Amino acid sequence: MKVLVIGGGGREHALVWKIAQSPKVETIYCAPGNGGISGLAQCVDIAATDTQGLLSFAKDKGIGLTVVGPEAPLSVGVVDLFMENGLRVFGPNKLAATLEGSKAFSKELMQKHGIPTARYETFTDADAAIHALDSFGCPVVIKADGLAAGKGVIIAQDREEAVSAIHEMMQDKKFGDAGSRVVIEEFLTGKEASILAFVDGKTAIPMVSAQDYKRALDKDMGLNTGGMGAVSPAFYYDEKTAKAAKRNIIEKTLAALNAEGITYKGVLYFGLMITEEGPKLLEYNARFGDPETEVVLPRLKSDLVDIMEAVIDGKLAGHTIEWRAEKAVGVVLASGGYPEEYKNGYVIEGLDTDAAEDAVVFHAGTRKQEDAIVTAGGRVLVVTALGETTEEARQKAYTRAAEIRFKDVQYRKDIAQR
Ligand SMILES: Nc1ncnc2c1ncn2[C@@H]1O[C@H](COP(=O)(O)OP(=O)(O)O)[C@@H](O)[C@H]1O
Ligand SMILES: [Mg+2]
Repeated sequence: MKVLVIGGGGREHALVWKIAQSPKVETIYCAPGNGGISGLAQCVDIAATDTQGLLSFAKDKGIGLTVVGPEAPLSVGVVDLFMENGLRVFGPNKLAATLEGSKAFSKELMQKHGIPTARYETFTDADAAIHALDSFGCPVVIKADGLAAGKGVIIAQDREEAVSAIHEMMQDKKFGDAGSRVVIEEFLTGKEASILAFVDGKTAIPMVSAQDYKRALDKDMGLNTGGMGAVSPAFYYDEKTAKAAKRNIIEKTLAALNAEGITYKGVLYFGLMITEEGPKLLEYNARFGDPETEVVLPRLKSDLVDIMEAVIDGKLAGHTIEWRAEKAVGVVLASGGYPEEYKNGYVIEGLDTDAAEDAVVFHAGTRKQEDAIVTAGGRVLVVTALGETTEEARQKAYTRAAEIRFKDVQYRKDIAQR
């Protein structure tokens, strides 16, 4: 079978890497891919959101399975377009992807169907939003409704900060249309965990848990980023929490979607806050998380292509998915300056060494330039290692990371440290 993966980050490298292990797969294409992906797949120069371009390519090549990585193509309906043209595609359709594309929509679904989540209100008028602040107290959470590349959430410590966040989003249009509606939420305290689940419209099978590290610097200091590392399993996701999440959040979401007439197929990501009252749902993502995927897929024993086909065919029920007992730790190597200004084009050294067996290096932002691999993004690489214990995985990942060099490389030293 020929497979097309849409996207070009660390998540897509992990997807391509895992898909390449399936005996069913003869050729993999990736649009647009990156420098690391080009070792496993044929990279094609089509943007992830160029849905017509992707469709023509898939038809031309006789692609048997298309896998959508990022949220942007989902939210513009790439899955609908492929399905209308009789192509097999893994990912939710445009309507189902609204679970991620609109926070107001997903919060309404949670509230209506009794899924535990933070108390909230939605606003399209800045004055009304400011007026409501007092009823939430501080800290308070202000969220742009639409897609904002992980930057649309402000935790305001005081009223002044909350007011300026509302102004920035609603009046200054800092996130464009994504901020013309805002959600104001009660601040929840607890520990976060990410649960990804395979969903075929009727059945949801959760994957092993993960936890990501969003802040740029050690001890959760510095700016928010796309993610500086991840660990699987998540530290605080015990049996009891898993049971509660399955019953009160995952199963209820499936029932809610069915009641609303939404057929969700693909990966559904549950962003959880584990509070004293049990797990609460912060948000959905309509896809594999990044960098969670880079620690979850290396633990997957089963054939990913089999699972994806079962999802597309609505045959997930009874499908067994096997996982390795080993723990996984992934460390992101970023460009100096990220998440603010940084430079691209630095040669990366130390990618091919003997130690490579102990750790996988997923490329997030790299480009092939003649015989070299150069930096081409804020997040450059994700170094993932497996170990009997989280500590062992952590040490292996950091040992491997230390062998890799490029100018101004920056990474956190405390990923997966308790
Ligand atoms: N109600 C809340 N209480 C406390 N922290 C929150 C709340 N909502 C979001 N956060 C924090 O903000 C982060 C981003 O929020 P999230 O809803 O996941 O949006 P996105 O990932 O789209 O930016 C969360 O990972 C969490 O750390
Ligand atoms: Mg999130």
